This record gives sequence, C-alpha cells and structure tokens, in this order.
Amino acid sequence: MATDADLETLPGVGPATADKLTDAGFDSFQSLAVASPSELSNTADVGESTAADIVSAARDAADVGGFETGSTVLERRNKIGKLSWHIDEVDDLLGGGIETQSITEVYGEFGAGKSQVTHQMAVNVQLPKEVGGLHGSCIFVDSEDTFRPERIDDMVRGLPDEAIEAALEDREIEGSADDEAAIEELVDAVLEKIHVAKAFNSNHQMLLAEKAKELASEHEDSDYPVRLLCVDSLTAHFRAEYVGRGELAGRQQKLNKHLHDIDKVGNLYNCAVIVTNQVASNPDSFFGDPTQPIGGNILGHKSTFRMYLRKSKGTKRIVRLVDAPNLADGEAVMRVEDEGLVPE
Ligand SMILES: Nc1ncnc2c1ncn2[C@@H]1O[C@H](COP(=O)(O)OP(=O)(O)O)[C@@H](O)[C@H]1O
Ligand SMILES: [Mg+2]
Repeated sequence: MATDADLETLPGVGPATADKLTDAGFDSFQSLAVASPSELSNTADVGESTAADIVSAARDAADVGGFETGSTVLERRNKIGKLSWHIDEVDDLLGGGIETQSITEVYGEFGAGKSQVTHQMAVNVQLPKEVGGLHGSCIFVDSEDTFRPERIDDMVRGLPDEAIEAALEDREIEGSADDEAAIEELVDAVLEKIHVAKAFNSNHQMLLAEKAKELASEHEDSDYPVRLLCVDSLTAHFRAEYVGRGELAGRQQKLNKHLHDIDKVGNLYNCAVIVTNQVASNPDSFFGDPTQPIGGNILGHKSTFRMYLRKSKGTKRIVRLVDAPNLADGEAVMRVEDEGLVPE
C-alpha cells in the first residue's frame, strides 16, 4: 500500500489532497489506477484534468498485475478446496461445499442463522480433509459482537462421530467420541485455532482485513494454515455509519475496497471467505427490493457464491443458492439445533 507521502509524488497531489484520497479509500496506486477521473475529481476536490493526470501517473506507478500463463492459473485453481457443511443437501447444492479462493455471501433477515453458519464453518474448516474439512484455522472478524466460544463448544460436540474420531486422531488426542476428557481437549484445540477480532466501526473493520492478510501470511507454512475468513457482519457498520442517500456512493466505494482486500486474502492464501449481510424482513424502504442484500452491484460482482437463508417453521431453515457461476440455482433444507447446523 502507498503511504500519504507516496501519493504526494503524483502530479497535483499535495498533503491535503493525499488525505482526501486516503479517506475516500484511494490509499494505493492500484486503487487510483483503476479509478475513473470523474470519480476522483468528486471525492478529492480536484479538477477533471488533474484527476486524469493522477490516474495516468498512478497507472505507471502501480503494479496493476500483468498477465500470467494459463498453467499458472490452472495451478492455482487446482488448489481450490471445498469445505463441507456436513449437510448433504447443502453440499450438493454447492457442488461439494464452499470453495476456497472465493467469497461466499450469506444473506438473510435477523435470526435467519447467518452467524450460526459462520460458527459452524469455523469448526468444520479445522477437520481433516477426509471428513470434509480443510485442516486449517479460521480468522473471525466480528462486527456485531456475536462470536460465542460456547457455541463452538456445542458445535464440536455436535459433529458426527466419524468427524470427531478423525479430528481426535488428527490432533493426536487419545480417546474416542464418547470420552469427555478427549472432547474437552478437542474443544480447546479448536478454539485455539480461531482468531477472533471485534470490529468497532467500518474503518477498524477495514484495518482488520489487512491484519487478516498478515495473520494468514504468518500461518501459511504452519500446521493449520488459515483456510477460512469470516466477516460477520460485512455490512452492519457501513449501513449504520452511512445513512443518507448522499452517502451511498462513499459507502459503496469503501465497501468495494474492503471486499477487494478480503478477496485478496482468499486468493493469496487459498482460503474460503464467508461474509454475512442482513436484509430487512419488513419492507420499510422505498428504494429497491428490501429482500436484496445491501451493497447491490458491488457485492454482486465480488461474491461468487450467494446464499439466501430464510426462516421456516421452528428450527427449520431454507438455504437458497442464487446466481452461482457454473451451478444451478436451487434450495436445500437444514435445521439450526443445539448441536449446530444439521440435516433436515
Ligand atoms: N445455542 C443455540 N441452540 C439452538 N439454536 C440456537 C442457539 N443459538 C442460536 N440458535 C438459533 O439461531 C438463531 C439465530 O441465528 P443467528 O445466526 O444469530 O442469526 P443471524 O446471524 O442471521 O441474525 C436463533 O433464532 C436460534 O434459532
Ligand atoms: Mg448474526
């Protein structure tokens, strides 16, 4: 990332403009290189022609990434892992599970079970591959203060016996699935591999995405490399902080930058990314379809898998896959129980 001082090497950019650019999320040559001059001119209060000069200089300075060979792309794609839900109907819908190197957006109304999904996946990702896991650790960015270690405890205990047995063996814990001491040790070991940070506001959340990248890098060659990044909720702070219609463009820009950072973690470190997004259950908005997740187009482009969760009777939940590339749209049924997410 470029610093303010670096940005000042661009034509027409002094300290004040550099600050404005940074505040608007243009904090690197890369982000400027792909911006449009009119967008810049509006956000940084510079004339259109200066803005055009800035973009052009940023393009020269930026490492916008070159071309890579088909075999390099193939090599990376060959590493894509699938993380199982341990719910056949949902896994079938997803062609095996959620994928690494992509963002999965889980959206739905309050209480639909979005946070339950992130907790369950923080457990499942740690399982050995032969039982649907990725033998990896999890980074959990918690913006609504909903992460609960007790829930992880429930979910570890709720795993199918064969998954528990495999996890115990994998971690060299003596005992079996009905052995309390062994299970307690397993729960501790699982909690040890979930790195949780609370995000206090949207700026802090964006900073945490950068931290996530550092953490993933540190753990890359470890026993449990980071294989899952959860951001629960992706949008709550942004929604609360940018309320007026006039602020929508700014909000989208920041969300876009945030998603870009998150996406990078997934791609660079081969991890799955789950972001949650709440939609209104009560249509109280005049603008657009209230059941559509916020972030509109921007999330639409970035989240390669979108899953709409909705409440049904009691503990029953309907999971719908929406607009996924190469997969048919469809629905699956599951339940949110004490022991976690389970098949219908
Ligand atoms: N300990 C638990 N035992 C059983 N069900 C639970 C438990 N905790 C949460 N739930 C279920 O999950 C629902 C809340 O899901 P949550 O993931 O927090 O929703 P969202 O994040 O979509 O707002 C609750 O309504 C309840 O049905
Ligand atoms: Mg939640």
